[in-house]
Amino acid sequence: MTSTVPDWVSTHLEPWGDQLGRDRQAYTNHVIRVLELCDALHFQHGGTIADKPTGRELFLVAGVFHDLGIWTAKTLDYLGPSAKLARDWLRANDRSDLGDDVSRLIEDHHKITQASAPNSPVEIFRRADFIDASLGLRRFGLPMPVYREIARKYPNAGFHKRLLQLAGKRLVTHPAKPAPMFKW
Ligand SMILES: [Fe+2]
Repeated sequence: MTSTVPDWVSTHLEPWGDQLGRDRQAYTNHVIRVLELCDALHFQHGGTIADKPTGRELFLVAGVFHDLGIWTAKTLDYLGPSAKLARDWLRANDRSDLGDDVSRLIEDHHKITQASAPNSPVEIFRRADFIDASLGLRRFGLPMPVYREIARKYPNAGFHKRLLQLAGKRLVTHPAKPAPMFKW
């Protein structure tokens, strides 16, 4: 990757700008925070700079698309739609070889329990999203200042407020299945 992480993310979210609407900055910053947290967790487990997550298309593509189905499919049941968008993008960019791995990162990112070994891509991605979703309350050993610094650079911009609004709406329309994105 030659561009910076924020540039890469913004550029790749460009085609969905209209659908993201006023949530565009909030989602863009969430994606960047998650990717930076992936790097932090990777280094925490002794990973090297050479294979850091933000240098790998596997993580970058999973990051950009992981929650995008919320806006494109207009549902909180969005893991499948998000994974499909990622596969479509990979196919169009001659990287179908990454399709299964990217899908797994997306499909398992709201698993409540550990998804795989702590230093595996799927578990690093799950933990990174969990840290940001919990606003740093759950950190898997990552020091709070590390999260605070990332959150300071890429502010929340209403991301959590928006998710709570959507969750509230979903509770009214689907009271029996209010949070379909969570898996055990
Ligand atoms: Fe997320």
